[in-house]
Amino acid sequence: MKDPIMRHYVPDTDWFEVSTLQKMLQTYACVYIKPDIGRKGTGIIRVKKLNDKKCEISYQQTTSLSSPDKVYSRIQKILNPNKKYIIQQGVDLATYQHRPFDVRVVLQKPLGRWRATLMSGKVAPHRSSIVTNVAKGAKDYNLYKLLKGIDQSLDSSAIMRDLMDSSHQIAQILSSHFPLEILGLDMGIDKKGKVWFIEANTKPDCIGLEKFDRRLYRKYVNAKKIMRDG
Ligand SMILES: Nc1ncnc2c1ncn2[C@@H]1O[C@H](COP(=O)(O)OP(=O)(O)O)[C@@H](O)[C@H]1O
Ligand SMILES: [Mg+2]
Repeated sequence: MKDPIMRHYVPDTDWFEVSTLQKMLQTYACVYIKPDIGRKGTGIIRVKKLNDKKCEISYQQTTSLSSPDKVYSRIQKILNPNKKYIIQQGVDLATYQHRPFDVRVVLQKPLGRWRATLMSGKVAPHRSSIVTNVAKGAKDYNLYKLLKGIDQSLDSSAIMRDLMDSSHQIAQILSSHFPLEILGLDMGIDKKGKVWFIEANTKPDCIGLEKFDRRLYRKYVNAKKIMRDG
């Protein structure tokens, strides 16, 4: 977060505590609470501020209402006491057929340069879904086709360029701190078209992406081969 480029793309984030919850809910209409070390969209909670008197807490398939002063204790009951959690500004994700989606960009570093080798959109199963993980029922889509058909009227070519630029910048920055050769970035696009960096996976799961974009998949397999042989 000290890096100005990174700060531009990462939603406002802090450790989850009573004070940060209050502060975030004063600033943002929606916040996410997520395990520090998590995967597959498990254990994630979304809190939406409906008005001054009511918040909506969503977890797994359930949604309940709470007064703002009770939100912290309600959430505490859901959290795993052995885990640390972060709280994050919620991104109002763009939708496809009324369902939120985010973007997976896989980057590899064959021959010393980062290349985006796979891209897909992950569309949540329901309009009320709080996560877009394939493990939670989201479906993979060809990103070009998806962006052309989204519900918001946004410039899909400009978004593609932003996604590519930001992904390369993020890979560069992360790999200056960690020894990385492959990254699976979860990138969000909000309803106004701004690109956000949600998460980096260092062991991305790429199986299943083959069927809807063979050209890209070949690029991914080739890069893998160069890295293995090289
Ligand atoms: N700040 C956020 N705003 C909006 N949606 C989010 C936010 N954080 C996570 N999500 C949703 O939850 C999903 C899972 O979150 P992520 O941080 O990638 O954790 P995991 O490691 O479990 O995949 C994301 O793909 C996205 O759909
Ligand atoms: Mg993820």
